[in-house]
Amino acid sequence: MSAEPKPELARSDFPADFAWGVATASYQIEGAVNEDGRSPSIWDTFSHTPGKVDNDDTGDVACDHYHRYKEDVGLMSQLGLNSYRFSIAWPRIVPEGKGEINLKGVDFYARLVDELLEKNIQPYATLYHWDLPQVLEDKGGWSNRDTALYFQEYADKISRLLGDRVKGWITLNEPWVASILGYLQGVHAPGLHSMEKAVRATHHMLLAHGLAVPALRRNALRSDAEVGVTLSFNYIEPGRPGAEQLAQLKDAWDNRLFLDPLFKGAYPTELYPILSQYLPLEREDMEIISTPVDFMGVNYYFRTLPVEWADQATMSFKDRPNEGSEYTAMGWEIYPEGLYQLLTRFHRDYGIKKLYITENGSAFQDSVVEEDGNNFVHDAGRKKYLQEHFGAALRAYRDGVPLAGYFVWSLLDNFEWGYGYDKRFGIVYVDYPTQKRIIKDSAYWYESLLKSNA
Ligand code: FCB
Repeated sequence: MSAEPKPELARSDFPADFAWGVATASYQIEGAVNEDGRSPSIWDTFSHTPGKVDNDDTGDVACDHYHRYKEDVGLMSQLGLNSYRFSIAWPRIVPEGKGEINLKGVDFYARLVDELLEKNIQPYATLYHWDLPQVLEDKGGWSNRDTALYFQEYADKISRLLGDRVKGWITLNEPWVASILGYLQGVHAPGLHSMEKAVRATHHMLLAHGLAVPALRRNALRSDAEVGVTLSFNYIEPGRPGAEQLAQLKDAWDNRLFLDPLFKGAYPTELYPILSQYLPLEREDMEIISTPVDFMGVNYYFRTLPVEWADQATMSFKDRPNEGSEYTAMGWEIYPEGLYQLLTRFHRDYGIKKLYITENGSAFQDSVVEEDGNNFVHDAGRKKYLQEHFGAALRAYRDGVPLAGYFVWSLLDNFEWGYGYDKRFGIVYVDYPTQKRIIKDSAYWYESLLKSNA
């Protein structure tokens, strides 16, 4: 199908049961925000507040995946993928946040999962990719401890219904982004600026995760089912001589705020001065939070080089750019070595028994070209980005890291949160006015890797 040269990497370099996937998230692709009983989420409210999202874009229609899921699963199958990470919208399943379940909402995910299984694609479901029911935010959202209990209830309900079919359960996606960008920096929903609320949100998200794990285990009926959590990481190095301590603090804040409680049962000591005044810690919380899981999902995109404080009150750092490096359309430095360093660190320092890369990818300015009556997107930058990062992952695997899979972010161009539709992360292009999907060169490259000496 493609005229790609044979990739340098081969599928057989990785374990035979490796999960080759792509990832998406409900609010970023589904659209259909008012259909089949879904209630508004904090992202509906936020994106409909003028000035919050570039262009005032919203997820109202997005990629219309809610109606086009069969075509999208068809694309995955065509590319040769064997795994798919998607997220379930809490407001579709439990529109009031707690209590009654909405079977029409469940039905959408049941049909999606069945379609995937029919195509031999293993479903990995994330339960929280940031679309909190607005009704819960009205009661304090994640700064309210009850939200953790409601999450447990939701996780229990949905896993009872899909537990016979879903392979991987991911409680939370990037809780750092949800709590810090949402409750402290205000650039994500719900758009608040409070350290106290952010610290409370952090703790309650951790608690929500820990409370949900036993319910998921109980309800996951597949013999190969796994339960885990996905965190965001950036690779941090001092941006100048003398900034070592600053870099360490940034690492504690950006990378270990969730990692250490989950896998060491304690918050990083460097952060006590900030956390202690607000942490709503109750007896046994840390035991619940550090309930063992089967895997950790790693989302990795870039390196940062902190040089000084931007604002100590909000724990923001000024990073310097690196001369000679290439940057994506997000302004993120392309640094595959950082992925290698992080994976080996999680293995070495935390002894985590299984790791997945649950997100990795890049945004570039894409353009569609017509050649012989067919449309193409020659996204050489994205293809190179993926080649290099798969290479770094392979190196980590060869050095003993228990890496079980790789989910490219993202299958489709989609609603990139505060940036709206301008930033395209897909390996498949979406022409929004027509909703036509165009397979980019990076996806053809991925396909050729998957079909190399399989
Ligand atoms: C991650 C998010 C994902 C997407 C990528 C680019 O932080 O989990 O939804 O926005 O970044």
